[in-house]
Amino acid sequence: MKAWSQACHRMGESIAFVPTMGNLHTGHLSLVEQAANLADKVVVSIFVNPTQFAANEDLDNYPRTEADDLKQLASQVVDVVFMPLANEIYPPNEMIQYLDVPAVAKQYEGAARPEHFRGVVTVVKKLFDCVEPDHAIFGEKDFQQLLLIKDMVKQLALAVEIHGAAIVRDKDGLAKSSRNQYLSSEQRQKSPLIYQALLNARQSILDGKLTYADIESQAIDFIQQNGLKIDYFVIRDATDLSLPKRSKRVILVAASLGNTRLLDNLRID
Ligand code: PAJ
Repeated sequence: MKAWSQACHRMGESIAFVPTMGNLHTGHLSLVEQAANLADKVVVSIFVNPTQFAANEDLDNYPRTEADDLKQLASQVVDVVFMPLANEIYPPNEMIQYLDVPAVAKQYEGAARPEHFRGVVTVVKKLFDCVEPDHAIFGEKDFQQLLLIKDMVKQLALAVEIHGAAIVRDKDGLAKSSRNQYLSSEQRQKSPLIYQALLNARQSILDGKLTYADIESQAIDFIQQNGLKIDYFVIRDATDLSLPKRSKRVILVAASLGNTRLLDNLRID
């Protein structure tokens, strides 16, 4: 991988990189399209990263659909699909040198999955070392992940520009996710109410009549009344996820339908 990247750079060609864990859908493909508009070459990686899964999470059952993924990528502008083996990324007899993550990595998604973001930023750095991209594209769907990757790039002063890509949704508003396939048809019918709760909350914020706390608890009631289990629904500063102070805000939500945990968010600029 590295030799190819270095050859591209020697020829003055830039590289845009889209890291994924496969099981691709149109959300992933929108990142690939954005990459093609940013650089001369496009690299997509497919690597189910073990270090971002906890022992109780089912790494072995993560959907691996390589043949279908490659078929989808064949219709895109892609130069290399990088599919490293686990022992290329994590050499077997070497201790894993994890990168540090800021305190916010223990909140929201990190509260439910304490070591998750440490694994994410560590693998993204390792993938960057292999691909040496000029640009890398991440979905705003995983808003906290995008912020933590931007933070890692800043901390390490890496020469890669991080781009966020808008959330791709189904027509009824459900954000595209590999997890949506686990919803029963009844659960699938209910699921757009997460996006509805986000839109309602955004409207209430813009109306300016209720406090953030009231808007959050209204949304939580609405989601729970419809039979979902709420993990968090919070209005936060979109730059660092602290309590909102500036005009750039984001509403983050995680809620479960049965065993399927769904994530979504909406920005308010
Ligand atoms: P994965 O879940 O495969 O997602 C790969 C990229 O696709 C991420 O940047 C994610 O935010 C983006 N994405 C997923 N659904 C999207 C949607 N509906 N709209 C827009 N973008 C969407 O995120 C990971 O993999 C991993 O943590 C990874 C960064 C690859 C590190 O292992």
